[in-house]
Amino acid sequence: MALRLSFCFSRTTRFLHSSLNYDSKPKWTCSSAPVSQGDSGIHHNKNFQLKASNVQPLNAIALQAGVPANSLETEDVEAVSPTIKECVPIIETEKTDSALSFIVVGASGELARKKIFPALFSLFCEDRLPENFTIFGYARSALTNEELRNMIIRNLTCRIDKRKNCREKMDQFLKRCFYHSGQYSSEEHFLELDEKLKEKEAGRSSNRLFYLAIPPNIFIDVVRCARRRASSENGWTRVIVEKPFGRDSETSKELTRDLKQYLNEEQIFRIDHHLGEELVENLLVLRFSNLVFEPLWSRNYIRNVQIIFSEDKGLEGRGRYFDNYGIIRDIMQNHLLQVLALFAMETPVSLNAEDIRNEKVKVLRSMKPVKVEDAVIGQYKGDSSYPAFTDDPTVSDNSLTPTFAAATLFINNARWEGVPFLMIAGKALQSKRAEIRVQFRHVPGNLYNRKFGTDLDKVTNELVLRVQPDEAIYLKINNKVPGLGMRLDSSDLNLLFKSRYPREIPGVYERLLLDAVEGERRLFIRSDELDAAWKVFTPLLKTLEEKKTAPELYSYGSSGPVGVHYLAAKHGVRMGEFGC
Ligand SMILES: NC(=O)c1ccc[n+]([C@@H]2O[C@H](COP(=O)([O-])OP(=O)(O)OC[C@H]3O[C@@H](n4cnc5c(N)ncnc54)[C@H](OP(=O)(O)O)[C@@H]3O)[C@@H](O)[C@H]2O)c1
Repeated sequence: MALRLSFCFSRTTRFLHSSLNYDSKPKWTCSSAPVSQGDSGIHHNKNFQLKASNVQPLNAIALQAGVPANSLETEDVEAVSPTIKECVPIIETEKTDSALSFIVVGASGELARKKIFPALFSLFCEDRLPENFTIFGYARSALTNEELRNMIIRNLTCRIDKRKNCREKMDQFLKRCFYHSGQYSSEEHFLELDEKLKEKEAGRSSNRLFYLAIPPNIFIDVVRCARRRASSENGWTRVIVEKPFGRDSETSKELTRDLKQYLNEEQIFRIDHHLGEELVENLLVLRFSNLVFEPLWSRNYIRNVQIIFSEDKGLEGRGRYFDNYGIIRDIMQNHLLQVLALFAMETPVSLNAEDIRNEKVKVLRSMKPVKVEDAVIGQYKGDSSYPAFTDDPTVSDNSLTPTFAAATLFINNARWEGVPFLMIAGKALQSKRAEIRVQFRHVPGNLYNRKFGTDLDKVTNELVLRVQPDEAIYLKINNKVPGLGMRLDSSDLNLLFKSRYPREIPGVYERLLLDAVEGERRLFIRSDELDAAWKVFTPLLKTLEEKKTAPELYSYGSSGPVGVHYLAAKHGVRMGEFGC
């Protein structure tokens, strides 16, 4: 049934409308003719399509039958599929002729080289970019177009297009890449960029996406210059901002206030690249499209939740940045807290970005700030084989910056009161691991208690959502060992993604770049979320810094500081295997 098309269609058309400034909405006209993906001359495909078992998209659950489609905002359009699937934007003639310009600011840097250009190339290989797209690198370094292309090609791979024509694809892609050298605070240089962009856009209506792959101290200069001299005159202008979004509540608010002098909230896409991970997306699918989990998702059945992010390497050339921020700001305050909010939120009204972000912000605002006694910080030390954190030449010798932290957080609401959420993040640990572990309560009056022995914690059900290594979802259950007699065993119901879905999983930057192009904000962080997230960690950060708290030293490649085991025990948490 034609319903299946609706979600893809309404999302992809967003970047086609071009007669409006900034993020204003397209108008729609309806007919009874079905809409085919080929109609727009653009690639309509998007990997996020949530379907119920009857093959209807789940977003169609929020149908408002009878609402005239052309009276809707685009966000509403997604919720009204039977009507909308027969509607097309009335700017059909313009949209096939619109242009999309990516401007990678800080193009000479590591992030641009290693992540952004390769992600754009993958999108190109997957036919996700519109026909008329151009990529401009902008930075101070004096590079020619050719030098930029040589720099880009070194990091391109044929991951998507493994066939013989990969090299051809690379050449086609590189032909769309250009460079403009300029200062970040020079309106004149951005005006020059604007002229070059207009030349490539060739009179088409244009949408422009700026990616700020630069240090945060120059964000505002760039945004000011881009807003005044290089924003689109007849389409949208959006800006992707990389973390860090401030160092604490005050500086984050200041950054938001400054950005909003030049941009409105709809134009700002605050990126946390970990949120582009497949399993983070899948968290909502798991919760809201399976009957079995949601009824258990509360303090009544869940004993504790662990959110773990461990790396098996220390610093990799980002010492100056890391020494200034530390693991709490780098990973916990943003990535892990976002995952926690998605995990714990109430059912949103719909899958629209604002509905999801509204629920996330409620969770964050219900959280108590982390107490010092509920946190452990550590720093890795070196030995004859591995350097210590402070051995890095860009890190100060007496640095107190934590490379490991664990904290217990609580959500003060009816669903979660009293349930400890143990967050653990660390570098130079024994293994590379990112996962959520949900430990369920004991079975009351369990008939088999005698068979389990004394440690009942070992045999409670546990749901593990693992991002790495090897994406997987598994549920620990107890079952009988086949044979005579009654022996019980704790075993796994295991969904290993690479076995079930052997196809290539898109990179996180690919997903997020495509979302930004399409105006999909679900995985980007809104300013009130950011504010609420900082409130959870700022008091702890202030205390640690004011008191100059020394982190507990741990060996490179170990399971982290011993203190974390005391913290877990204090809250009755059986530790996950983040480093053991
Ligand atoms: N690398 C990653 O994987 C990663 C991940 C998450 C977030 N981030 C964040 O994304 C941003 C960019 O990361 P990156 O690793 O690409 O940074 P980077 O290499 O240090 O900087 C990117 C470019 O910005 C310019 N730049 C650097 N320092 C500057 C300064 N003090 N003043 C003016 N311009 C300066 C340089 O270009 P020119 O000299 O040519 O102008 C440089 O090539 C940073 O804020 C970082 O924290 C990076």
